[in-house]
Amino acid sequence: MKIGTVREIKNHEYRVGLTPSSVKSYTDHGHRVFVEKGAGIEAGYPDDDYRSAGAGILGSAAEVFEVCDMIVKVKEPQPSEFPLLRKGQILYTYLHLAADSALTEALLKTGIKGVAYETMELPDGSLPCLKPMSEIAGRLSVQEGAKYLEKAFGGRGVLLGGVPGVRRGKVAILGGGVVGTNACKIAVGLGADVTILDISPRRLEYLDDIFGGTITTLYSTPHNIEHVLAESDVVIGAVLIPGAKAPRLVKREHLKLMKTGAVLVDVAVDQGGCFETTRPTTHDDPTFIVDGVVHYCVANMPGSVAVTATEALNSVTLPYGLKIADKGLEAACRESETIRLGLNLYEGACVYKEVCEDLDIEFVNPHKLIGL
Ligand SMILES: NC(=O)c1ccc[n+]([C@@H]2O[C@H](COP(=O)([O-])OP(=O)(O)OC[C@H]3O[C@@H](n4cnc5c(N)ncnc54)[C@H](O)[C@@H]3O)[C@@H](O)[C@H]2O)c1
Repeated sequence: MKIGTVREIKNHEYRVGLTPSSVKSYTDHGHRVFVEKGAGIEAGYPDDDYRSAGAGILGSAAEVFEVCDMIVKVKEPQPSEFPLLRKGQILYTYLHLAADSALTEALLKTGIKGVAYETMELPDGSLPCLKPMSEIAGRLSVQEGAKYLEKAFGGRGVLLGGVPGVRRGKVAILGGGVVGTNACKIAVGLGADVTILDISPRRLEYLDDIFGGTITTLYSTPHNIEHVLAESDVVIGAVLIPGAKAPRLVKREHLKLMKTGAVLVDVAVDQGGCFETTRPTTHDDPTFIVDGVVHYCVANMPGSVAVTATEALNSVTLPYGLKIADKGLEAACRESETIRLGLNLYEGACVYKEVCEDLDIEFVNPHKLIGL
């Protein structure tokens, strides 16, 4: 198979779909790899590293899209890339379709076969290709929350760790999955007073076991959410219902319960966000203020730590990518339920139920469509 990667063009997205080490794995398996000139430079990989790994360097993204059977990316294609995609081409990347009907419509029109990292699922329900990015976003969320709490950034001027004799800052985390647990680690490390809320008793039990008395765990009920909103300096949105739009846990009217200059960090923005007032922002202009509350809603947080994130992402996407390349997508889907669950789009049909339900478009059963 001919496999390619291009420079990411989303705002401040510096990650790259393939590292030179991944390229070497594909070429060792007998595949040919093409990389757009300069695609990996911001993640620490010059073109020569790709050449040494066996890739061909092409002058433009258009050339890579034209020659390759499978494109391995990081983020969803941007509008200027839509015309470069073609029917039957495999696109292996984060897609996050449930939150974006325009993107879904555009990709359906191209006729690509879209495999989304974020819906690939292991038998235990965990999401292997989302996990490392969630770990990074979770850790970053507290770093960003702490920064935007500073006066100069519109925050209320609280130091999360406090100092001897002065109260610590309060952090509330909605959702105690991968993002939430990692946010919790950093918030505890900074010395903040941390409360974490989830609907899963097992998850709360786990968090209580690992963090012990250093944090408070609470059931995620409307009452408890209102309580933590009123007292928190930073609130982190980290909920997920796989493949579906995030539940809106915080409504606009709740903002008046909060302190002026408190910070909301909605990590779940890529699934539509769990605050009603969320709208996606970029690393260029990451925050906005509603009713005195600072909102940070960057949809590609790990892009800002591209060196760490590219290596982490490739370590999880490579084994499945190799399987798709070696067997072909359809056979890979038959052999691996994880890859099959990643299949969101297939030649003009949407084959992932939750995406169809969220966007109110026709669901086509992949079993029927490609005999899985
Ligand atoms: N913005 C970014 O750059 C970025 C990066 C990585 C992940 N994410 C997003 O972060 C979100 C969380 O990802 P994750 O990997 O931690 O998912 P996860 O599945 O590990 O955890 C989600 C948690 O949310 C809990 N939950 C569900 N409904 C809830 C509710 N009503 N109240 C409280 N908790 C609830 C679940 O029980 C689960 O523990 C996802 O939307 C993901 O796409 C964003």
